[in-house]
Amino acid sequence: MERLSTGVPSLDKLMDGGIPKGFFVAVVGEPGTGKTILCIHFIAEGISSGDYNIYVTTEESRESIINQASQFGFNFNKAINEGRLILIDALMGDDEWTLRHLDIDELVDIVIRAKKKLGYGRTRLVIDSVSAFWLAKPSMARQYSYTLKKILSKWDLTTLVTSQYAISTSEAFGFGVEHVADGIIRFRKSIKNSMLRRYVLIEKMRQTNHSLFLYEVHIMPGKGLVVTAPTMLRKEDVALPESVKKKIKKGGYKVE
Ligand SMILES: Nc1ncnc2c1ncn2[C@@H]1O[C@H](COP(=O)(O)OP(=O)(O)OP(=O)(O)O)[C@@H](O)[C@H]1O
Ligand SMILES: [Mg+2]
Repeated sequence: MERLSTGVPSLDKLMDGGIPKGFFVAVVGEPGTGKTILCIHFIAEGISSGDYNIYVTTEESRESIINQASQFGFNFNKAINEGRLILIDALMGDDEWTLRHLDIDELVDIVIRAKKKLGYGRTRLVIDSVSAFWLAKPSMARQYSYTLKKILSKWDLTTLVTSQYAISTSEAFGFGVEHVADGIIRFRKSIKNSMLRRYVLIEKMRQTNHSLFLYEVHIMPGKGLVVTAPTMLRKEDVALPESVKKKIKKGGYKVE
């Protein structure tokens, strides 16, 4: 089976060498856990291995993604100029690569336009974040995800979509895309001994003998994501404290 490296070798090791070609994989997690940085590695790896690349950013400007990439030594501007990468933003720019609305049909159209422009060949797609497209209609998450995956599957794309994981709205934002996805890479965080720690878990990867452990993740200056030793943590260890959960429940929200 043809697999695509994520660009993070220590993460590839957890899933038989990488993501199977053509898969639609959800990258989920709370703010600041490393979702965008993983997407940047995935695209940088695409650039260096000769794939075409499309990156849709809804949370940050194109410049912000280019700057973040350059901090880890990846030259996205060069790839854009050489026709290997198309960076699409939402509501921020004012050229042909700006989405005018956070609309799922418009998203599909612009991705297909980008793919046609890049040309024939193996292509990586990032949608960061896909949950932005159903912010106003959370109940549509599953249906939109299904449509997106179905249409995109015809275009020789291997796709990473990020989904925010707000504890108060976990069902609405997370579950739609997670059921439809071929894989789920879940980032988590916790504060231990007054220090922020990040973790990653391959929660699902179809047709893959993947690790079942939770691993610690480091975001290193100049280098980016590195996955280190498996932790012996249980899910409860990285969950919110009971007192916080109780407060959220009181507010009528569902807690994982
Ligand atoms: N150059 C750098 N060196 C070290 N750490 C960095 C660097 N750049 C970013 N980080 C770390 O990465 C974090 C951001 O990670 P990232 O943007 O991938 O989060 P995210 O999961 O996409 O969050 P969100 O849901 O808010 O978009 C920062 O909060 C910071 O801790
Ligand atoms: Mg992000």
